Amino acid sequence: MHTSRTPMVAGNWKMNGDLVTNEHLLAALRNTLNRSLTSRVDVVVCPPAVYLGQVTAWVGDTGIGLGAQNVASTGNGAFTGETSAAMLADLGCRWCLVGHSERRALLGETDELVGLKLGQLVQAGIGVIACVGESLAERENGITGEVISRQIGALLESMRAADPQALVVAYEPVWAIGTGRTATAQQAQEVHAQIRSQLRQAGLDADGIRILYGGSVKPANAAELFGQADVDGGLIGGASLVAEDFTAICRAALG
Ligand code: PGA
Repeated sequence: MHTSRTPMVAGNWKMNGDLVTNEHLLAALRNTLNRSLTSRVDVVVCPPAVYLGQVTAWVGDTGIGLGAQNVASTGNGAFTGETSAAMLADLGCRWCLVGHSERRALLGETDELVGLKLGQLVQAGIGVIACVGESLAERENGITGEVISRQIGALLESMRAADPQALVVAYEPVWAIGTGRTATAQQAQEVHAQIRSQLRQAGLDADGIRILYGGSVKPANAAELFGQADVDGGLIGGASLVAEDFTAICRAALG
């Protein structure tokens, strides 16, 4: 973690929760995530789209940012079932994930589609958390660097228009997501450094852009991961559904 960048911890609830469970989780987070923490770490929660309205009412003055998990690749119009960036902004979303590996793998999202979504968010003034990551087979075949470079490369054009403070990259090795198997701090740092150097070479303000690690981050491994020079926080799945764990991970981001 570099002191010039504010650390970020974002909770990706994925397709979990209901009105009552969310209420309990949010009440617990209100008790544990105090202002002194949220003023030093950018804490973001990303509930499922149908609950954004519930959570936006709750985040209020907590200092916690509201994030969405997905956005349409076009503006408003005849796209049944989609949610536009303008709608997310209307609901108070400050952040949105794009390119999560589950959407790439299970819903067929291509690099090109992820780029279009990123562009929509930038236009709407919503911060982007762009996810990249290699599969187990790709790592074992020694092509991690190549895969990440292609995924980042496809987003560079849309990234250029973004404010660096509102542009975040999340490196999430697919083999570490929800598996309990985390990249070592050294493996994470290696890929993060590569991403930062690619952003720099493309002429972006690479030192201002935060790069998060995601994939089985838990209270027990967060501090070591966040201690790496190019790891600026985390994107948290499973552990973001447990208030004490999510809070402990946010604390670990204080360094
Ligand atoms: P996990 O998920 O923390 O449950 O591994 C991370 C993610 O998919 O963003």
